[in-house]
Amino acid sequence: MGFTIISAAEAASYIKHGYNIGLSGFTPAGTPKAVTPEIARIAEEEHAKGNPFQISILTGASTGDATDGILSRIKAIRYRAPYTTNPDFRKAVNNGEIAYNDIHLSQMAQEVRYGFMGKVDVAILEACEVTPDGKVYLTAAGGIAPTIARLADKVIIELNTAHSKNCMGLHDVYEPLDPPYRREIPIYKPSDRIGTPYVQVDPKKIIGVVEINKPDEARSFTAPDPVTDRIGQNVADFLAADMKRGIIPASFLPLQSGVGNIANAVLGALGRDKTIPAFEMYTEVLQDAVVDLIRQGRVKFGSTCSLTVTNECLQGIYNDIDFFRDKLVMRPSEISNSPEIIRRLGVISINTAIEADIYGNVNSTHISGTKMMNGIGGSGDFTRNAYISIFTCPSVAKEGKISAIVPMVSHEDHSEHDVNIVITEQGVADLRGKSPMERARAIIENCAHPDYKNILWDYVKMSSKGHTPHCIPAALAMHDTLAKKGDMRLIDWAEYK
Ligand code: COA
Repeated sequence: MGFTIISAAEAASYIKHGYNIGLSGFTPAGTPKAVTPEIARIAEEEHAKGNPFQISILTGASTGDATDGILSRIKAIRYRAPYTTNPDFRKAVNNGEIAYNDIHLSQMAQEVRYGFMGKVDVAILEACEVTPDGKVYLTAAGGIAPTIARLADKVIIELNTAHSKNCMGLHDVYEPLDPPYRREIPIYKPSDRIGTPYVQVDPKKIIGVVEINKPDEARSFTAPDPVTDRIGQNVADFLAADMKRGIIPASFLPLQSGVGNIANAVLGALGRDKTIPAFEMYTEVLQDAVVDLIRQGRVKFGSTCSLTVTNECLQGIYNDIDFFRDKLVMRPSEISNSPEIIRRLGVISINTAIEADIYGNVNSTHISGTKMMNGIGGSGDFTRNAYISIFTCPSVAKEGKISAIVPMVSHEDHSEHDVNIVITEQGVADLRGKSPMERARAIIENCAHPDYKNILWDYVKMSSKGHTPHCIPAALAMHDTLAKKGDMRLIDWAEYK
């Protein structure tokens, strides 16, 4: 290997107050896990002495508790981008303690290259192998590793034996040139490989290698319930019908699917529906359900940024690498989420909404318009460029006190111009080719919970005429009623006229 072996504590000692730290990984997959807790320890000591110690984190997507959790609890994060799912980080963001820049994941690497977030002082990369000439073989995610490795002044490698060396070869590392020199990214099908299986790092920049054996902080999934099952079935039935109608080619199109229980249920239903041919994925996260479908031959190929799977599932892939090697590829996030490629391949996107409004605008990020949930992630990259963009969500949250279908979203991430289909457990609203009022009819009738249909129609009736009818004083009244009375069903429209 040829590099100095250092402890995680020694590696962390190179990180100074005010540094911008670049991290490998995308979701807890492939994220460094040993050096960041040591940075936290240094921050705690400095804080105890009355000294400031805060860093900025630039990474691919969410990390795990060993980064976002520990560092936010001790108030050692000044700034962070992009997506994160950690509850303590969320609390700190919503308390105004952390400057959080929630950008599209496809844009993260290029915005770092363009200098929008300052220089990268130190990059920490998790690897399953590193060669003396600086070839770094990443683990379970691509993220923004190639960019931060190239731009950082110094690089620390976490060589993690919890990831088998069988991971070598699963990555296709490619970084586009920046404007005005950028060319097309030459991916014409999900399985195309255009780069190298490693990240090239200038060996002179490598401070040292930290040897660890720590599995990814993988999340587990709760078992599907009748609501997520119904949503999954509705998605599968919709796609099968669109294929029968000839809108989706008989050979099918690549799918992108978000993370979480609904995504797992959707993929389970698609796998079971034998009227849909075996298909490919061009996606940013690949979950256990897809790995199962690859084993069953229902998914022919998976292109992803990360293997966001349980550790058991990941070890299964490493153990059966001869089977998986020509069926999986991991890419940097600016390639897995590239608008250019998504549009060229005709990807069908399936993401989860927090709420959708009667005209098809979608909120993916903010609870009641103000509190950050996780972030936009890659949902915008895919939705805006998809062949068909689908949003799913349960029709109600919190035992029915909250309707996911509202007159006007309290925060907008995806506009009516980009959202094609809304699906709840109640049914499917096909918004394609429809005017605002036609969309409102489809969403209220097909997607809203029965408890809310009349409430939403009453809103439409009281709205002033126009291309997109609204009653502006009442547009957020359901949210206001939730805040004041704890249940949107208690809305009294007369109070808002
Ligand atoms: N108002 C208030 N709370 C709501 C709500 C609403 N309209 N809709 C959902 N919630 C609450 C749920 O009750 C739940 O609360 P809990 O944690 O206290 O149980 C929580 O929000 C999460 O909802 P859940 O139904 O469990 O959804 P999820 O885990 O599937 O996450 C998103 C949904 C939207 C937060 C998640 O998909 C996300 O972060 N999306 C944005 C990023 C993205 O789409 N990436 C694309 C590819 S990975």
